[in-house]
Amino acid sequence: MKKNILVAGATGHLGSMICKALTGQGANVIALVRKESDAGKIESLAKAGATVVGVDFNKNVEIAKACEGIDCVVSALAGLAEVIIDTQSALLDGAISAGVKRFIPSDFCTDYQPLTPGENRNFDLRRTFKGYIDEKDIQATSIFNGAFADILKYNTPILNLKNRSIAYWGDKADWKLDFTTMENTAAFTAAVALEDESPRDLHIASFQISPNMMKESIKVITEQDFNLQKLSDLDEFSANIKKQRLENPSGEQELYAKWQQAQYIYSMFTTQHPLLDNHHHNEIVWTSADEYLRSFLKQVE
Ligand SMILES: NC(=O)c1ccc[n+]([C@@H]2O[C@H](COP(=O)([O-])OP(=O)(O)OC[C@H]3O[C@@H](n4cnc5c(N)ncnc54)[C@H](OP(=O)(O)O)[C@@H]3O)[C@@H](O)[C@H]2O)c1
Repeated sequence: MKKNILVAGATGHLGSMICKALTGQGANVIALVRKESDAGKIESLAKAGATVVGVDFNKNVEIAKACEGIDCVVSALAGLAEVIIDTQSALLDGAISAGVKRFIPSDFCTDYQPLTPGENRNFDLRRTFKGYIDEKDIQATSIFNGAFADILKYNTPILNLKNRSIAYWGDKADWKLDFTTMENTAAFTAAVALEDESPRDLHIASFQISPNMMKESIKVITEQDFNLQKLSDLDEFSANIKKQRLENPSGEQELYAKWQQAQYIYSMFTTQHPLLDNHHHNEIVWTSADEYLRSFLKQVE
């Protein structure tokens, strides 16, 4: 029998890809949207085969009704505390009222559990929600995918195509960073949502690449020598980010404030996924570093 999977945050980048992966893997998909959601995005979810259900996330009865007969709820919500803690908790409470057995929270990041609280605001919100869900009678599964590989295209210090530079911190030139494409993350999440039960935590990466390896790969692909540079020690980096955060209080209301972006980079250089669960779904074709780098470096002049 087909499984019924509900996706919250279905209009988002990742959420819409999870919906498509789910329909492709034979699920009945209920895409939960809200009044404010974009009509075009709703239409494309319906076209992809999802049943779109509109709810007021503040009304437990509406969420519980949408969750009736659902095997697993997947949250791909994005936002600050009012979304990751409040809206997600409301979603979880509604799912529990409806007797849903499984819930995948909107983690989709580097495993924050080994990271010191206070080093990454957005991870701290996920840690708080984890505390909430782990007290409840529902099976939770977190998917930790490191960074979305797309960030390699955005001229961050990790890889800056304009400056032809690759940065690292501390003595981490050989530290492997976890990257997963959104396609692989969506396919894996869909496959996990369709299981009867799954481990509490699953770690994945399409590829793991160190700054040194990136320099070598880029040289082979582009025949250009990118400049590998140490920017600072990690303690100094952390102290600097804390200073930036204090000096920019308005960033507390921004999802990706500049200091938050630096916190993500700091997290990537201090936590990694030594053991991957990619094999949990061997049918997924994981994008290699070479394939991913070639997909956009070909255009670098
Ligand atoms: N590891 C990485 O490098 C990385 C990078 C980016 C994102 N992520 C993570 O991936 C997940 C999804 O992110 P995304 O970029 O796909 O997000 P996104 O495109 O911004 O989509 C956010 C979704 O959340 C919904 N939403 C936001 N506020 C809401 C509210 N108050 N009530 C109900 N729904 C609300 C939006 O609905 P509307 O359309 O109605 O606004 C939308 O469907 C998040 O956990 C995010 O942190 C990870």
